[in-house]
Amino acid sequence: MTNNKSTLLALCLPILLVACAPEQDLSEKIIARAGEQLSAQCQAIDATGTFINPKSFHEGKVVYIPLDDWCSGFFPGTLLEMYRLTGDSTWLRRGLEYTEQLDSIKHIKWHHDVGFMTMSCFGQAWRITHNPAYRDVIITAAQSLSTRFRPVSGVLQSWDEDRGWQGTRGWMCPTIIDNMINLELLFEATELSGDSTFRTIAISHADTTMKYHFRSDYSTCHVVDYDKVKGGIRSRCAAQGYSDSSCWSRGEAWALYGYALCYRYTGNEKYLDQCRHVYGYIFNNPNMPADLVPYWDYNAPDIPNAYRDASAAAVMASALYELSTWIPEYRQTADHIIESLASDAYLAKAGENGNFILMHSVGSIPHGNEIDAPLNYADYYLLEALCRKNNK
Ligand code: GLY
Repeated sequence: MTNNKSTLLALCLPILLVACAPEQDLSEKIIARAGEQLSAQCQAIDATGTFINPKSFHEGKVVYIPLDDWCSGFFPGTLLEMYRLTGDSTWLRRGLEYTEQLDSIKHIKWHHDVGFMTMSCFGQAWRITHNPAYRDVIITAAQSLSTRFRPVSGVLQSWDEDRGWQGTRGWMCPTIIDNMINLELLFEATELSGDSTFRTIAISHADTTMKYHFRSDYSTCHVVDYDKVKGGIRSRCAAQGYSDSSCWSRGEAWALYGYALCYRYTGNEKYLDQCRHVYGYIFNNPNMPADLVPYWDYNAPDIPNAYRDASAAAVMASALYELSTWIPEYRQTADHIIESLASDAYLAKAGENGNFILMHSVGSIPHGNEIDAPLNYADYYLLEALCRKNNK
């Protein structure tokens, strides 16, 4: 290094360090709090002598969920993210132990969520350890999800028409915007197995969703019901959003995240363009609050008194850090969201909030579920956002 260059570096280094410090402190603040909360959560699990899987906190009690719940991968996955953020092998050991409890989810064929469930824990476990047993779970789970592909419609059916969640609505092939996240499982399974069938299904689903789920302003409807026999669509409806014509904020966040992952795996510019349009809808929305933590629905009738959804904010932050590798200006928006989530308004105090990290999410207001509550997936996407922000 020449003398001039080293002098310049010596002069600039303190300025650079000061400029980076607040951002760094914010990540460290969240990671430290997450460590306290997750340790306490693990202790409560240990005390039972078995694996129980925390999802939320209701009337003073932690809500635990069965293996086939769509959220079952998030808590083990959050522990694996803690390992990525801290390098502390205790988190890895715990995360893998709990992940392995979920082995049988790879056979689930009666709903579409096997992608969320598998990739949040086994996907990470595979990337961290390269243990072939985890790769095999991913491939088997992708085979299970592929059984839900409806070739006439070109989509994966989300929910069964006659059982489970929403099974009484009279739908034929209900497909929800959330389903975009399950495509990661299919893309990854093609990379791991060389079988292009999974990728072909994922692309068909992404393209069909682009055609039917979006309105001209790039807001989304939650459910599109396809006619899986004759083709075409039967209706566009709300399930977790306010109304058939409104835009449910977590659904819009899934759209942003989903097309970002499609671009990651395909490099097809049309998916990145879709993200730009969705970004425009979200961040130019007159109903978006200044802290960028959205109301649960962009058209909720009681805005500005409507509930916020921190889970939607966390999903968007994570998507935006990934997108910022291609669209650098999005990083600032992601940082703004993280700044809000790290504040006392959303970050729980140690030992409170059922030992979850974030407060103020919404599961489903129309169903009276998890209103203004912590949710394990809000925590999962918050830590995933920090992994992406800090290149972990
Ligand atoms: N996938 C369901 C939800 O976002 O609530």
